[in-house]
Amino acid sequence: MNRRRSTPRLVTAGIAAVTAALTLAATGCDAITSDGGDAEGETHSIDEGFHVGLLLPDLVTARYEAADYPFFEAALEEQCPSCELSYANADGDVDEQQTQAQAMLTDGVDILVLDAVDSAAAAGTVNEAKSQGVPVIAYDRLAEGGVDSYISFDNHRVGQVQAESLLEALEEEESTGDGSIVMINGSPTDPNAADFKAGAHEVLDGQVEIGQEFDTPDWSPEEATTQMEGAITSLGVDEIVGVYAANDGMASGAIAALRSAGVSVDDLPPVTGQDAELAGIQRVIAGEQHMTIYKAYRPQAELAAAATVALATGEDIDSGEYTITDMEDGSGATVEAILLEPVAVTADNVGDTVVSDGVFTVEEICTSDYEDTEFCQEAL
Ligand code: GAL
Repeated sequence: MNRRRSTPRLVTAGIAAVTAALTLAATGCDAITSDGGDAEGETHSIDEGFHVGLLLPDLVTARYEAADYPFFEAALEEQCPSCELSYANADGDVDEQQTQAQAMLTDGVDILVLDAVDSAAAAGTVNEAKSQGVPVIAYDRLAEGGVDSYISFDNHRVGQVQAESLLEALEEEESTGDGSIVMINGSPTDPNAADFKAGAHEVLDGQVEIGQEFDTPDWSPEEATTQMEGAITSLGVDEIVGVYAANDGMASGAIAALRSAGVSVDDLPPVTGQDAELAGIQRVIAGEQHMTIYKAYRPQAELAAAATVALATGEDIDSGEYTITDMEDGSGATVEAILLEPVAVTADNVGDTVVSDGVFTVEEICTSDYEDTEFCQEAL
């Protein structure tokens, strides 16, 4: 398979062509793909291959470069060896992602797989692609504008599982009534963040007091530290019995603020996370972070590759063991979705999840800082 990695800078170099494409669309001319295809969209063959564009949203979350991109690339290679893949990561920049998508369209991609920085803003890209007959698969986050297919996890369930695990830890420590929790939710432009938040509230509301709550632009760990510092100042560090952090990056920010406020590792309140990042798993086995959410990225990427091949070759998507359901996007369009199940990871099941699935080896997890943990003592 041909593989082209489009770095943000390389993609920006195509800006003149992008402008030309935009001008075409703006003057109302029939959209014409740069490789000469028409707006009807073509059906491709696996034998001859076709050109796929993969757009991922950020670099502050390890999963995209460490798992989603390599797993998607491998799955596409396996399912369509003659296919060409162009890849770009927007590094959290909405405009940059639009530029990257436009450059790929100008370059003649036959199908886009899009994990949007901003789902509403992505409607422009989706419409532009559709006008050129290029199907769009929304990956992990549901882009608006009527995409052809959506591959993700049950994001409402992610929030519920995080909150259930937090509540369990609070109940175990008998601290539910002793203070309040702080909620650090994800980016307001990411519809998944709203689903995580709604799922978590469903479980937490009425069960524990929520002292402070934040939405965090760009899922920024630094911003999460600042928010947590603010919460510590206004609530008092001893009042905080738990932290709902929507992902591992922000969990690390919240823990850093608590540690700077003088809380020892043993006295840290339970903190949630998501993404099963290596650093997150290490904090979990060291007792700094109560839990993380493991999403099986490999099946997710494999399904996305299967959907890519099916859509480009005019076949129905074979979802295997997974169910295809209808969902509405933020603009009211109905989209076919395949949603996978998230799994809670605590110190008790690191071995049965990320290790047994081959995401990380024991050696990768048990570096010198962690070799004294119970997990590493038993696993090494
Ligand atoms: C969400 C995604 C999470 C996490 C987060 C931050 O949309 O579902 O797994 O990565 O973005 O990038």
